[in-house]
Amino acid sequence: MAARKKVTVIGAGNVGATVAQRLAERDFYDVVLLDIPQVEGMPQGKALDLLESGPVYGYDSLITGTTSYDDTADSDLVVITSGLPRKPGMTRDDLLITNAGIVKAVTESVVARSPNCFIIVVTNPLDAMVQLCQKVSGFPKNRVIGMAGVLDSARYRTFIAQELGVSVEDVSAFVLGGHGDTMVPLPRYSTVSGIPITELLPAERIEALSKRAANGGAEIVALLKTGSAFYAPSASVVAMVDSILRDKKRVLPCAALLEGEYGVNGLYVGVPVKLGAEGVEQIIEIKLTGEEKTAFHNSANAVQELINVMREKMPEVGL
Ligand code: NAI
Ligand code: 2OP
Repeated sequence: MAARKKVTVIGAGNVGATVAQRLAERDFYDVVLLDIPQVEGMPQGKALDLLESGPVYGYDSLITGTTSYDDTADSDLVVITSGLPRKPGMTRDDLLITNAGIVKAVTESVVARSPNCFIIVVTNPLDAMVQLCQKVSGFPKNRVIGMAGVLDSARYRTFIAQELGVSVEDVSAFVLGGHGDTMVPLPRYSTVSGIPITELLPAERIEALSKRAANGGAEIVALLKTGSAFYAPSASVVAMVDSILRDKKRVLPCAALLEGEYGVNGLYVGVPVKLGAEGVEQIIEIKLTGEEKTAFHNSANAVQELINVMREKMPEVGL
């Protein structure tokens, strides 16, 4: 049997540790979980605890906890979750400059040891962080992808399924744009076993569900009070890891670098992409109505504003 693929998770906090757990439980990957020297022992402790779950759960994945980048060498894929999460009253954008410093430093350390890896960025504000990561890495655009749309769509699917009293398995949904307050749920492309929800629900209920999906992150923050969501985010990351490392070629909404698609140039924004062994293998352009186009461009403009702030504060990156 071929050796297991190596996946490194940077940041052993709520999202990172749960990603490591879900990956280990897949039994396809060896996992390295890395955090900063200031919390020495924490990633090692979580990794050992996960390793000791293997005999009970039934997986042989090797999980290593570390604060040394040398342990991440030759990773096939790296998930970046390091950074501050939101607290109540904060937007994702409030995290911009602190997390940009973290993502820049982490990316440099990752690419020095794993020059051929794929990178999935999770840290918020997501679209700006993945743009920064791609620029700092110097990697081609197909190897650096942002996770947000799978999560936002999962929230939308949950609410649609609850509203209609049907299985979540039969609901597919699409959310486009940046991972922020301006994200764009697309009811026309959201279906129950192929039936658009516009045929199944009145417009005002669709509007309410779309709003709840767009506000889904803040809803969890308000409940948790000490941090942000991590179960659904980690599940979403694993769907992307599987699609790339197992070459499943799933079509998932992800933050990808647009170069003309959807009329946007040089910006990471959430769009449907085919994820396979080459990473982003295709960006799928769907036809948008005038109203949807306006909402999408509004969302892209919000991402561009964050890039402009980073351009000013971090001129050395050359964004
Ligand atoms: P957390 O606070 O539980 O964990 C963050 C971890 O990063 C901590 O253990 C911290 O020590 C570590 N860290 C900080 N600086 C580091 C560095 N330079 N190198 C390595 N590790 C470092 O936060 P949580 O809940 O895990 O969230 C992580 C990030 O993911 C946040 O920015 C959050 O907003 C974002 N997020 C994004 C989602 C998305 O859809 N894109 C969904 C959920 C969270
Ligand atoms: C979320 O949507 C915080 O971005 C994170 O839950």
